Amino acid sequence: MDAKKRINLFYRYILMTASVFILIGIVILPLTSGEEQFFVLFSLIIGFIILLILIYHMFENYVRPIRASINVTNELVKGNYNARTYVKPHGEAQQLSNAINVLARNLQEMTIQEKMQGSQWKTVMNNMESGLMLIDERGYVHLINRKFMQMFGKKSVDYIGFLYYDVLQDKTIHKVVQETFLYEEKMTGNITKTINGEKHYFEVAGAPVINDVRDLKGAVLVFHDITDLKRVEEMRKDFVANVSHELKTPITSIRGFAETLLEDEKADDAIKEQFLTIILKESTRLQSLVHDLLELSKIEKEEMKLSTKLIEVDEWLQSSLTLIEQQASKKSLEFTKEIKPNISFHGDPDRLQQVVLNLMYNAINYTAEEGSIFLRVDENDHEVIIEVEDTGIGIPDEARQRIFERFYRVDRARSRNTGGTGLGLAIVKHIIEAHQGTITVTSEMGKGSCFTVKIPKKW
Ligand SMILES: Nc1ncnc2c1ncn2[C@@H]1O[C@H](COP(=O)(O)OP(=O)(O)OP(=O)(O)O)[C@@H](O)[C@H]1O
Ligand SMILES: [Mg+2]
Repeated sequence: MDAKKRINLFYRYILMTASVFILIGIVILPLTSGEEQFFVLFSLIIGFIILLILIYHMFENYVRPIRASINVTNELVKGNYNARTYVKPHGEAQQLSNAINVLARNLQEMTIQEKMQGSQWKTVMNNMESGLMLIDERGYVHLINRKFMQMFGKKSVDYIGFLYYDVLQDKTIHKVVQETFLYEEKMTGNITKTINGEKHYFEVAGAPVINDVRDLKGAVLVFHDITDLKRVEEMRKDFVANVSHELKTPITSIRGFAETLLEDEKADDAIKEQFLTIILKESTRLQSLVHDLLELSKIEKEEMKLSTKLIEVDEWLQSSLTLIEQQASKKSLEFTKEIKPNISFHGDPDRLQQVVLNLMYNAINYTAEEGSIFLRVDENDHEVIIEVEDTGIGIPDEARQRIFERFYRVDRARSRNTGGTGLGLAIVKHIIEAHQGTITVTSEMGKGSCFTVKIPKKW
């Protein structure tokens, strides 16, 4: 009730009281005279003033607070929990106003908490790395999160309110839901789905939703993307298959030639020598394969354990240059080195020497006789740049990224002739990445290749 109405009511009461007093005056006054009349009039005026004060007091202490409380209660009913009533420091109505204010404050806190909990729950749900779907005991979808929509496409309106088997066609999902309902236990299954042209693997886990009195109220389905795990698993399987294959080839030929030598007693010395040479070559290959594999696993395990020192490039490269010169001259290759003097940086000297040698041996191996190979070492403010170039056979476009994979060889037969295991560049890449560096390659078929290694000076 607004102030104007309240004042009106107040005046109405005064008017009524005044009328009663005037009426009493009109009736009593003619019956009196002289001093008596004055006394009656005086008593009436005093009585009126006292009543006036009483009415004012009643209004201030009872009517006004009660009306204010009604207003606040109405506001609370409407949902405005900010409403508070004015509390006079005395009077019984104070208790009522106080109680209403406490109620309003509690309601306000409860709604704030509820809102916070609601938004926290929403944030958690929508930022989960897994897709989520909640279905009730009749199979109707009640809730899905953002990840689920990313996985399965469409919008929430296309799922919520529908039966799960109408919106999800995969039979494995149906089975997981049915078994979750049947056994009231967590059930899992695997599904595949093509998203943006890429095959994804998902694990679907169904968990029953059971209330306090152990009634089944529905189920939560969680869709977990296990594509990366699958990929690692595939890679491991590939790796084991590749290693077995790589080991099998030299072992088979060593065994074959050894058996022939043992069986064929009449074989002349020339043949014997030829066979023994093959056995020696194959066992060397086997040895280098095992060596490289051990090296790779060592690097992978101890990736962060580099023994870093200050490397003075001129001195550090000396022994490698001798080895490279020897190998290059065997194939009559022209070896050009452009090494900027006085470069120094922090790194693991032995491991980085392995990088230079691996790249240089590749340049030598994959360049025809009379070709040229180059080694350049340069620096800028932040990094040391090592470039290995050749005028060799080149690397086809589609193979350029794959050459850093274990066992990948562009031309298997040719690489095997050079004694290659296909692990060299995988090792190189690991070492460079452990130094937080990068390796890139440019190449043109039949013209040559150029590998560029960049290693940050401070890391
Ligand atoms: N400079 C190059 N020119 C042309 N092809 C190259 C060059 N360097 C590497 N390749 C290609 O990349 C493949 C992988 O090289 P990587 O050094 O990893 O193995 P590899 O040389 O075959 O054996 P190894 O482990 O003994 O070094 C090679 O088999 C070859 O096909
Ligand atoms: Mg190599």
